[in-house]
Amino acid sequence: METEVLAVDERMPEEAALERAAAVVRRGGLVAFPTETVYGLGADALNEAAVRRIFEAKGRPADNPLIVHIASVAEAEPLTVFGPSTARRFEGLARRYWPGPLTVVVPKHERVPAAVSGGLQTVALRMPDHPVALGLIRRAGRPLVAPSANRSGRPSPTEASHVYDDLNGRIDVILDGGATSIGVESTVLDLSVDPPVVHRPGAVSVAALADALGTEVRGPGAETDARPVSPGVKYDHYAPATRCVLIEGKPELIEKAIVAAIADDDKAGKRSAVLATREGAPAYADAAAVCIAGDRSDHGAIARNIYRCLRRLDETGADIIYIEGIASEGFGEAIMNRLRRAAGYRIVRAL
Ligand code: TXA
Ligand code: MG
Repeated sequence: METEVLAVDERMPEEAALERAAAVVRRGGLVAFPTETVYGLGADALNEAAVRRIFEAKGRPADNPLIVHIASVAEAEPLTVFGPSTARRFEGLARRYWPGPLTVVVPKHERVPAAVSGGLQTVALRMPDHPVALGLIRRAGRPLVAPSANRSGRPSPTEASHVYDDLNGRIDVILDGGATSIGVESTVLDLSVDPPVVHRPGAVSVAALADALGTEVRGPGAETDARPVSPGVKYDHYAPATRCVLIEGKPELIEKAIVAAIADDDKAGKRSAVLATREGAPAYADAAAVCIAGDRSDHGAIARNIYRCLRRLDETGADIIYIEGIASEGFGEAIMNRLRRAAGYRIVRAL
């Protein structure tokens, strides 16, 4: 299959490009497109064969469910069967956060194919805040499933070239709308349980959701055996091929630990790379490669750059990537969640 790359204006996408991509979706094809979080790989959510093609293209386990993307709150109704109290919660959140980086899990209507939800009785819904994504959904005239547009297990794509590197020849079209603005995937909130549970942290924080709902909201990892776990939690490793180690602790101690590790690696004939903060970077002059994600306190910049940096450092041929940890507060919680996964939970506390 030849993958076609269509450049589009991210603010005012060209009608012709959107129409071409929408036609591909309507006939069951796969189209990658930018959202405000990461690039998604879109297909007709109501076409079971198209949905299966997504799992094949990504090499994704069939029990890891997909998010259904819609372009208006009204489009949620035919996809769900919620009772009045869930409906009230859902509508309150949609009014406040949509379009935006919040995915809401609700009971599923039977018209949503089982393949979408990996056999679960729930469906995840999101309205992305991006003119290209919204334009494509509207023109396709149907909801789109869209996982992140990477090969399963690879870091999520924040630029069209990342999608191309992972999926060229496996999908029909890539709409290139430039770099995404948030850089980590949406918050996934499960409203099918009480109290609601955040399965995946993102730009919308657990505290903000608790405040908006006026109720307790459990954070990631709060699931017990009695609660449905989000299948993606066990699969999404976001990992580059190179072995990564995440260093947590006070900034000065993190720097010292990484400098010492670089020196040890050097003696052992190993080449090390560092995913660094701007403040830490000057200390790593002896590393084979350094990628600066952003100022330590600028979580927005760090989120935008972590996946790009992981991909870039992966290409340098280094034997190991050290990742500077940041404070796990606010948006930092979502960033650290992704970095822990990238490191395959190889985490060192700098003392
Ligand atoms: O920001 C995003 O959400 C991006 C963009 C493209 O919209 N999409 C994305 O999709 O990250 P994906 O497939 O990479 O991650 C979807 C996550 C997985 O962790 C999956 O397990 C969870 O959402 N999920 C989907 N449906 C679910 C359900 N019914 N119940 C619980 N978790 C669900
Ligand atoms: Mg993903």
